[in-house]
Amino acid sequence: MPMSDKEIFAKLIDLIQLDADAVGLYTKALEHIEDDPDVVADLESFRADHERHIEDLSQCVIDLGGEPPPVDRDLKGALLEVVTAVRSATGTKGALKAMRSNEKLTNKTYEKAAELEFPEAAAVIVAKNLLDERRHLTMIETHLDRMKEEPAEDQERRAAGEAGEQPPEGVAVEEEVVVIESEPEQPPSSSPPRT
Ligand SMILES: [Fe+2]
Ligand SMILES: [Fe+2]
Repeated sequence: MPMSDKEIFAKLIDLIQLDADAVGLYTKALEHIEDDPDVVADLESFRADHERHIEDLSQCVIDLGGEPPPVDRDLKGALLEVVTAVRSATGTKGALKAMRSNEKLTNKTYEKAAELEFPEAAAVIVAKNLLDERRHLTMIETHLDRMKEEPAEDQERRAAGEAGEQPPEGVAVEEEVVVIESEPEQPPSSSPPRT
């Protein structure tokens, strides 16, 4: 059933708020990333995608004769449950797990929106954004898989390093050989695909 203009605007504005919440959550997640430039680069680019989603959806509302409200940056929308997760996240892995929850909810919401009978211009934007959301989730899962393959000793040492507990210079770090004991059923780690 085709939607009324009122319904169309309400749905698009819900998506705008969802993307605004996602932006805020990425900003919080980035504060937890420890010394992992690849993860930082990806999360920053996902955040930029969400900013673009806000702009495109807002422009769409205007083109359809509506008026988007000012974007509320207070994180009180559909992603509220992720707020606690990202606040209590520890390190890169914790932040990535929180963003995985963020993206699962965002994907679910966009999947539902993509089934609605929007006017063509809005449907195109929703479908395009959904593709971005799917890519975000896949890439976050790729990072988490890569970290799973990394021996726990390496992760602990990196975390200790962040806390200023590296061994004094010149002291050999004998755990270096532990690398070969990483989960053998896993293929060797590779960088996530860049798009
Ligand atoms: Fe988005
Ligand atoms: Fe996303």
